[in-house]
Amino acid sequence: MTVGNGRTLLVAGANGRLGRRVVELLRAGGTDQVVATTRSPERAADLLRGGVEVRYADFDVPDSLERAFTGVDRLLLISTGSDPTRRRRLARHRAVIEAAQRRGVAHVVYTSISSPRPTPEPSLYDDHWQTEQCLADSALDWTVLRNNLYADQFFDTLPVALVFGKLTTIAPAAPVGYVLRDDCARAAAAALSAETGGRRVLDITGGTAIDRQTIATVAGELCGREVAAVVTEPVVLRRNLLGLGLWEHVADALVDIELAVADGRHAVVSTDFEDLTGQRPRAVLDALHENLPTLLADCASLRRRTIPAGP
Ligand SMILES: NC(=O)c1ccc[n+]([C@@H]2O[C@H](COP(=O)([O-])OP(=O)(O)OC[C@H]3O[C@@H](n4cnc5c(N)ncnc54)[C@H](OP(=O)(O)O)[C@@H]3O)[C@@H](O)[C@H]2O)c1
Repeated sequence: MTVGNGRTLLVAGANGRLGRRVVELLRAGGTDQVVATTRSPERAADLLRGGVEVRYADFDVPDSLERAFTGVDRLLLISTGSDPTRRRRLARHRAVIEAAQRRGVAHVVYTSISSPRPTPEPSLYDDHWQTEQCLADSALDWTVLRNNLYADQFFDTLPVALVFGKLTTIAPAAPVGYVLRDDCARAAAAALSAETGGRRVLDITGGTAIDRQTIATVAGELCGREVAAVVTEPVVLRRNLLGLGLWEHVADALVDIELAVADGRHAVVSTDFEDLTGQRPRAVLDALHENLPTLLADCASLRRRTIPAGP
């Protein structure tokens, strides 16, 4: 079956976890004209073998975008990470939007974040806000996918909480409409291959909001360990993150996310995922149960590295 009406769909940033999954879903769904752009085409040989056209594009190199976006009808812009100058992410996203317009791309799908907002200094939320404004000011049609926080990312922090028996956050009981990265990929693939034009903002969230304390308690029960929630101050959290060796801009972004959670800005829950894909989002606790073998292995590995063996 051929899907896509002869249109060429481009995934920009295809070697990342989200990008790869979107390409996979598009191909599995029968979309034949898929272009994947990446800074590292040499790492995308498998995509090429799977019938995907792979092109080089680096959002920091505007000339590369002009070439890469030629002949493209719809484009998925996957947001990029922060950098020490804190100014590159927005510049990259603007460069993609401008190049898309110049190359005659009809529709851009953008992965934003829940509750973006302007802030006095560059920040994660401000970058997404400004990128959304840039799309609004463009001549393009677009779909903004405001992805809530990846549950997967919280799962990655659970081994530390389980091994040390403490979940240290600013607001352990604040609800979050966590969503699985895989569901964000499903939403992006559906938005990219949709027949609709126009402009719309969709909140891509889980089906319910759940707090971190509850997830950690359930994980503790599954692993036979107790986890106590410990409330910390932003300044202490930042100091701890820096103490772990994180870069300042990364630590600041993580504290910003914590503050947004505490303010209820990630409590967003919507039916947009279901309306867009026709599927229910995966429940966080179901995913946690399925993830148990990995969680146990990660805990064992962390224990070996951090807790000396007895005499
Ligand atoms: N909602 C959440 O909780 C959450 C959590 C983490 C991240 N995110 C956001 O979601 C995005 C995708 O998540 P992920 O897990 O797939 O992240 P990831 O695996 O780290 O992938 C990062 C992506 O950014 C692209 N990229 C970075 N710099 C680029 C540049 N200069 N030019 C072109 N592409 C560039 C990479 O493309 P190539 O390597 O192919 O060039 C890659 O696709 C992240 O980049 C981040 O903005 C959201």
